[in-house]
Amino acid sequence: MSSKPLKHFLQFKDLSRDELEYLFERTRLIKKKFKSYEKYWPLEDRTLVMIFEKASTRTRVSFEVGMTQLGGHAIFLSPKDMQIGRGETVADTAKVLSRYVDVIMYRAFKHEITLDLAQNSSVPVINALDDLEHPCQISADLQTIIEHKGKLEGLKLTYVGDGNNVCNSLMLGAALTGMDFVAGCPKGYQPNPDLTNKAREIARKNRSTISIVEDPKLAAKDADVLYTDVWVSMGEEDEAAQRERVFKPYQINSDLLSLSRDDSIVLHCMPAHRGMEISAEVIDGERSVVFDEAEN
Ligand code: NVA
Repeated sequence: MSSKPLKHFLQFKDLSRDELEYLFERTRLIKKKFKSYEKYWPLEDRTLVMIFEKASTRTRVSFEVGMTQLGGHAIFLSPKDMQIGRGETVADTAKVLSRYVDVIMYRAFKHEITLDLAQNSSVPVINALDDLEHPCQISADLQTIIEHKGKLEGLKLTYVGDGNNVCNSLMLGAALTGMDFVAGCPKGYQPNPDLTNKAREIARKNRSTISIVEDPKLAAKDADVLYTDVWVSMGEEDEAAQRERVFKPYQINSDLLSLSRDDSIVLHCMPAHRGMEISAEVIDGERSVVFDEAEN
């Protein structure tokens, strides 16, 4: 077992500003090495196990490829392949896997499962998305904004749509990096209140602001970055019809985009549904940076 202090990545607030800066610096270095075909294997002999209770394209493939590129190995498991799917406890699973691998990544329906796993693991646990947060996505998003805007601090980042897991983590990421964050979300679908309070507390220290409004136009006004995500997250399929009605006025389309700054960029964590949360002309248009975002 490792003698280093155990550090998990379960919520975006688990990262300090210094750690985030270090992550950006490492990302730049690793991207440069990879793109110039320079072999760089700091994770040689290290193994990551990835357990996904729900579907994944980007998170699964990027982590698996990332482990290969850095000289390590990734194992993909779904609960139906494991004893956890037959009643073994999360705690026993965490304790056993900690004896085999160096890092555990878990995509859970419920944040409590992510916490239970981390509490019982003696190796770091990474949250690969749950109902509360999607912290890995946001580290990639912030990196993308830096690459296109050259900075984070002082920018206005607007999220429009469902105040879901992605929105919660994005709000914390904005607070930590001194961006002014506005969520334009309908009543009943606004970001988690405890995380909103936490984000406001962090933002105050970084002289930035966190606002939640109902009007998507007000939210989009003068934004440097516009962001959206699906209206129906995994596990909410039963609510699809109701959600599509509620979120209809929250689509990022050229009308909404025209309210943002002339040089604004558009992000979407994907999977995207053209004609729903974002119009095809915007996601496939020149202000969209969604594929750079997916790469990061
Ligand atoms: N909010 C979405 C994100 C997918 C990457 C979901 O949880 O399904």
